Amino acid sequence: MKITKICCIGAGYVGGPTMAIIAQKCPHIQVTVVDLNENRIAAWNDKNVEKIPIYEPGLSDIVAEARGRNLFFSTDVDAAIDEAQLIFISVNTPTKTFGKGKGMAADLKYIELCARQIAKVAKDNKIVVEKSTLPVRTAEAIKSILDNTGNGVQFQILSNPEFLAEGTAVTDLLFPDRILIGGDTSVEGQDAIQSLVDVYANWVSEDKILTTNVWSSELSKLTANAFLAQRISSINAMSELCEKTGADVNEVARAIGMDSRIGPKFLKSSVGFGGSCFQKDILNLVYIAKSYGLNEVADYWEQVIIMNDHQKRRFSSKIVQTLYNTVADKKIAFLGWAFKKDTNDTRESAAIYVADDLINEQANIAVFDPKVEADKVLTDLNYLDTRTADKNKEKLTVVPSPYEACANAHAIAVLTEWDEFVTYDWIRIYNSMQKPAFVFDGRNVLNRAEMEKIGFVYQSVGS
Ligand code: UDX
Ligand code: UDX
Repeated sequence: MKITKICCIGAGYVGGPTMAIIAQKCPHIQVTVVDLNENRIAAWNDKNVEKIPIYEPGLSDIVAEARGRNLFFSTDVDAAIDEAQLIFISVNTPTKTFGKGKGMAADLKYIELCARQIAKVAKDNKIVVEKSTLPVRTAEAIKSILDNTGNGVQFQILSNPEFLAEGTAVTDLLFPDRILIGGDTSVEGQDAIQSLVDVYANWVSEDKILTTNVWSSELSKLTANAFLAQRISSINAMSELCEKTGADVNEVARAIGMDSRIGPKFLKSSVGFGGSCFQKDILNLVYIAKSYGLNEVADYWEQVIIMNDHQKRRFSSKIVQTLYNTVADKKIAFLGWAFKKDTNDTRESAAIYVADDLINEQANIAVFDPKVEADKVLTDLNYLDTRTADKNKEKLTVVPSPYEACANAHAIAVLTEWDEFVTYDWIRIYNSMQKPAFVFDGRNVLNRAEMEKIGFVYQSVGS
């Protein structure tokens, strides 16, 4: 099938940037991104392109180039489905908060709603592409809904997981390590795969486009995230040992990373990984393994999450212990709230859990993050449901500058690795703080020797 019109359901962190790049690289294809959330669509359409709802370096320029030419954002889901030959499903798949698989399995409610809507609206054959990360064999469920409720038209289901990382979405999309497309082995399935290959081939060389069966593609995405997260939990496990024994985890990481079989990436010890994917995907993997009775496999992967939770809790305990076992009514400055640098996304950020622990110890927290909005910080904390929103507001404030966050603070906790942190006037910050002035570097971004020279008591993860 020759693709001239694409629709993407879900204008989030994945759908928005991915479609912007497809539109930029394929000016001959009309790309319409739809979402139920009217505010989100309005923000994507904001005249001031800096106000699009997702911050990613380089993204606003691409949106400015393609928007209105062949890139459109709309709430008219039916019209976009009707027109398109190819439909990406990029809606969220949160962890279930109820019933069977609660806290582990993916909630596929939104995926099912999308499938039903496509089935209702479609009047001609369509290719439906799973972009959202899904438990293995979701395509089967989508196909069953489409085939049994549709208007007798033919659907092909492809799995095309997205590997972009937030903060580097544009580069990851422009220069992907690989594009993975899973489809049916039938002739029709292979045709559908080829249609999508042709879209990507506009800017990705064909040797980087892998095609597999649907199940392999779905499982590869979960496996990739599980392996990446496992590396972080592995180095974080070593960080605790380093702190006890006097080794430096950065040196250990460097030494092992030079082994070409291990490689240097993703070995940065931290206060714990966050983000919307790692925890959710591993819990999913654990749930799937358990549902097949593979308890050892499930337990093996669950350790990655257990270690990560431990790392976050260990960080807050260390702050309390170091501050003479009490932080009650002490001011602690948080530098960073996003789950990593160069994004305004805070989902599962370690900062949320560290704040929660410290507020349990009655600390007062002042947060500064260069990109995260104040409301978001409190919403994240309220979502944990540990205490009332009023109480959270009393104990945590969001301030517009790092200097304000640190003034009169007993300690600083670095929760995100924003580049700008190293450029601050640290002497000014030191002079404005209570003494001794402590820095707990959860990201190993500041220079120990420089901080100690100024007079800070500096502790970092893993040394
Ligand atoms: C999501 C999933 O979390 C991830 O697993 C998957 O790989 C890609 O999609 P993300 O784009 O980061 O990731 O999610 P989010 O930013 O929440 O965007 C999803 C969008 O879908 C939201 O804007 C939501 O309003 C929209 N949506 C959801 C619909 O338009 N219709 C629905 O029925 C449900
Ligand atoms: C991840 C995967 O990298 C991506 O391929 C997939 O599509 C979605 O999930 P993302 O969550 O956006 O992407 O960010 P990533 O860069 O992987 O970082 C995840 C978390 O791990 C962050 O909190 C980050 O700070 C942390 N991290 C990463 C470390 O603590 N140490 C590291 O060495 C690397």
